[in-house]
Amino acid sequence: MLQNQKLIIIDGSSGIGLETAKQAIALGAEVIIASRSEHKLLSAKEQLGPKAAAYTLDTTDERQVQAFFEKVGAFDHLVVSAAETSGGPFLQTDTAQARKLFENKFWGQYYAAKYGAPNISKNGSITLFSGVVAYKAMVGSSALGAINAAVSNLGQTLALELAPIRVNIVFPGIIDTPSRSKMPEDARNQFYETVAGKLPVKRVGKAEDVAQSVLYLIQNGFVTGTVLHVEGGHILT
Ligand SMILES: NC(=O)c1ccc[n+]([C@@H]2O[C@H](COP(=O)([O-])OP(=O)(O)OC[C@H]3O[C@@H](n4cnc5c(N)ncnc54)[C@H](OP(=O)(O)O)[C@@H]3O)[C@@H](O)[C@H]2O)c1
Repeated sequence: MLQNQKLIIIDGSSGIGLETAKQAIALGAEVIIASRSEHKLLSAKEQLGPKAAAYTLDTTDERQVQAFFEKVGAFDHLVVSAAETSGGPFLQTDTAQARKLFENKFWGQYYAAKYGAPNISKNGSITLFSGVVAYKAMVGSSALGAINAAVSNLGQTLALELAPIRVNIVFPGIIDTPSRSKMPEDARNQFYETVAGKLPVKRVGKAEDVAQSVLYLIQNGFVTGTVLHVEGGHILT
């Protein structure tokens, strides 16, 4: 249970982050969610109720991240699920686009861990987000694969450096979340069907699958430095 525990979830307003916030509140936690878009935060806060507070935050801005943690003060668990992800063929993708992805998913998590850690209770934890393309190479995912591998390694090193705070990394496979809302619906459904057909579990993941794993990492005091695969056997295919 998470009674009297305070969680910060960056993002918390969409997909896996929002589902994690719902499950944490159901277990008794107080939750702060933070992302860039006020309308997403407002809608999430309505769904989460009085045990949630919401702040606007862009994790690519180091000073903003520092100021955010100064404002929120002491807490117990940090989850950083915020990310924008995109892909494209290596030779045809602008270097600037790849750097932008790093700014967002790698440096965003780095800043959050750096400025959040000093405020976390000694029994607390940090959960970072990697992803299946870190170790299952996929055409079009050169930057994202490198970012996800870097996050896994960052998290494991921080598990040593920030101890006794525990630091773990979740490693989602293909999960049906609003992250692919810009894809045309037909193409998205086709993509999910194709992936599901190849997986041992014969379906893509749900935000709930990953949120459950985050809650496990937060609550199990004997787990640190773990890269937890929640990918339906994708890595085996
Ligand atoms: N879905 C998948 O198939 C999959 C697979 C592997 C790994 N993952 C990882 O799982 C995590 C959660 O993904 P999801 O599918 O739940 O994504 P999602 O539904 O798109 O939610 C991510 C949220 O992050 C927020 N965000 C993005 N950049 C931000 C920034 N610079 N500062 C603050 N907030 C920011 C966005 O909210 P705002 O627009 O309000 O900022 C966005 O709604 C990500 O790390 C993702 O890479 C997902």
